[in-house]
Amino acid sequence: MSQDLFRAARAVRERAYAPYSRYKVGCAIRAASGAIYVGANVENAAYPQGNCAETSAIAQMIAAGETRIVEVAVIGTGNLLCTPCGGCRQRLREFAGDEVKIRLCLDGAVKRTVTLGKLLPLSFGPDHLGGRPADEADAAAVIAKRALRIKPRAVLILGSGLGPVADAVEGAVAIPYKDLPGFPRPSISGHAGRLVLGKLGGVPVAAMQGRVHLYEGSSTDAMTAPLRLFRRMGAKTLVVTNAAGGLHADWPPGTLMAIADQINLTGKSPLTGPNDDSVGPRFPDMTEAYDPKLRRAWKAAAKKAKVAIEEGVYLSVPGPSYETPAEIRAFRRLGADAVGMSTVMEVIAARHAGYRCAGLSIITNLAAGLSKAPLDHKEVIAAGRSGARRLVHLISAFLEETGG
Ligand code: HPA
Repeated sequence: MSQDLFRAARAVRERAYAPYSRYKVGCAIRAASGAIYVGANVENAAYPQGNCAETSAIAQMIAAGETRIVEVAVIGTGNLLCTPCGGCRQRLREFAGDEVKIRLCLDGAVKRTVTLGKLLPLSFGPDHLGGRPADEADAAAVIAKRALRIKPRAVLILGSGLGPVADAVEGAVAIPYKDLPGFPRPSISGHAGRLVLGKLGGVPVAAMQGRVHLYEGSSTDAMTAPLRLFRRMGAKTLVVTNAAGGLHADWPPGTLMAIADQINLTGKSPLTGPNDDSVGPRFPDMTEAYDPKLRRAWKAAAKKAKVAIEEGVYLSVPGPSYETPAEIRAFRRLGADAVGMSTVMEVIAARHAGYRCAGLSIITNLAAGLSKAPLDHKEVIAAGRSGARRLVHLISAFLEETGG
């Protein structure tokens, strides 16, 4: 399998521009799509200024719109193995996990294989910053090691103040997001930042206790990556929860609302950029963003859990400022029943990946202009917390009802 990579590296080496050192290097990178990108070293008269072969190959890959490296081959001149230089090890690490194999080649064949992590034992990857799309394999390995027997069927995303739902998970194994490459790093209060695996309502779940929002400056990759990972692990259902402002004067704080549909006014999409065809189609359908069967299941679950529930449309704004009364009046005309700063990115990413989605808002306050009181995040968190108990009953009953 690595023969094609070896041959590509050897062929491109011949085109290296190395008149000063006379040491030609070729590099071939296999990206996530399977495509191979090649590069040779380029020197100039200010030698040792110039580009390494690996840097050139990375540039080709980026220009083609790819960002994930799965295998690398490097070949130098003569009969000593050529390894990526210190700078290139770090450059590769930007786009590859520690486990990625580096094939060190001589003229005849691949002579040695090492992992990038071995070459760069104390690597500093973008996953340390929570930035790059998940190094999915790394995160999957951590989950497999700590929660061996749990294969989540449903993913729960717990919004502001709703973290306590995760405390009801049975047989829970908790993993801080910081141990999971590519997972988000929530920066605001009310969002713990850990993954809790276990069972709720008899269904194996992955509960994300804390999420990131656009207003934190978070990339949408940090929202998308965990969903893609759980989907590949076999999860089929996404249950999103959030704290929201209510657009109905007669919905007091604490009202629960099953989400019937959504309006994305953030001006963003998590699917901007090259499409990963292995995840879903370029133009995913959003007609049934919230699964009709699951919407009905909320009603049955509410009856079972003996809690009242409304149904309505959730509209998302980028935040972080709360809305003006004029905006709220406009949103009402657009058909919204609740307003918040989360959820829509996750549901778009989830539908793209083939999840069926269910959503639940807890109305933590009357939206701007519907009451005299100014809006305050502390009250949102407090109202979320005080509703969390009912939410636990409702979500457990929902999972029992649907089987996840
Ligand atoms: N507006 C936007 N986001 C919110 C609100 C609100 O009134 N309440 C809780 N999250």
